[in-house]
Amino acid sequence: MASITILYGSTTGATEQAAQTLAALLEARALPVAEATEADFDADLLILGSSTWGYGELQDDWAEAIGRLDTLDLTGRKAAVFGTGDQCGFADTFVNAIGILADKLTERGATLIGQVPAADYRHSESLAERDGRFVGLPLDDTNEPDMTPERLSAWADLLRRSL
Ligand SMILES: Cc1cc2nc3c(=O)[nH]c(=O)nc-3n(C[C@H](O)[C@H](O)[C@H](O)COP(=O)(O)O)c2cc1C
Repeated sequence: MASITILYGSTTGATEQAAQTLAALLEARALPVAEATEADFDADLLILGSSTWGYGELQDDWAEAIGRLDTLDLTGRKAAVFGTGDQCGFADTFVNAIGILADKLTERGATLIGQVPAADYRHSESLAERDGRFVGLPLDDTNEPDMTPERLSAWADLLRRSL
C-alpha cells in the first residue's frame, strides 16, 4: 500500500482540521510541518497543506519550513497541495500559499496530482490558479464551511484514482 504523509501549517486550526479529515479518508499520517523530521518528507504521496496569511503569503510554520524542500529530490514522486483561504475577503490572493507550495514541489521534481476546476469558486485572482484549474484543493471555511467535507471527500477519491 502506498505511504501517504500530510504535512500542514495552520494558525487557527482550519487547515489542521482539514488535514485530520483527509488523513482519515486516505488512511494517511498527518502532522504539523513544524514537528516534521526529514524522514516525514519521504512518502509515496506527499501532501502539503497551508492556509494563506498576510496578503497572499504562506502560513507562518510553512514560511519557516519551505527551505527544507530545497534539499529534497522528488523526481518520480507524486505530490498534492491543499489549503484554506477566504475567497471573498481576499479575492485576489485566494489560497496563494498552495500555489507557492506547488511551485516548490514541481521545482524539486514532483508530479502534482489533485487539480480541481477554478470555476467552482468566486475569487478573482490566485497564484494557485493555472489555466482554469487550481493546482490543488482550495477550502474556504469562512464563506463555504458546509462544502468542506464534500470537497475533502471528492478530493480524496481523486487522489486515490491518481495514485
Ligand atoms: C490577517 C489575515 C490575512 C489573511 N490573508 C488571506 C489571503 O491573503 N488569502 C486567503 O485566501 N485567505 C487569507 N486569510 C484567510 C485565512 O487563510 C483563513 O481564515 C484560513 O482558514 C485560516 O486557516 P488556519 O486556521 O489553518 O490558519 C487571511 C486571514 C486573516 C485573518
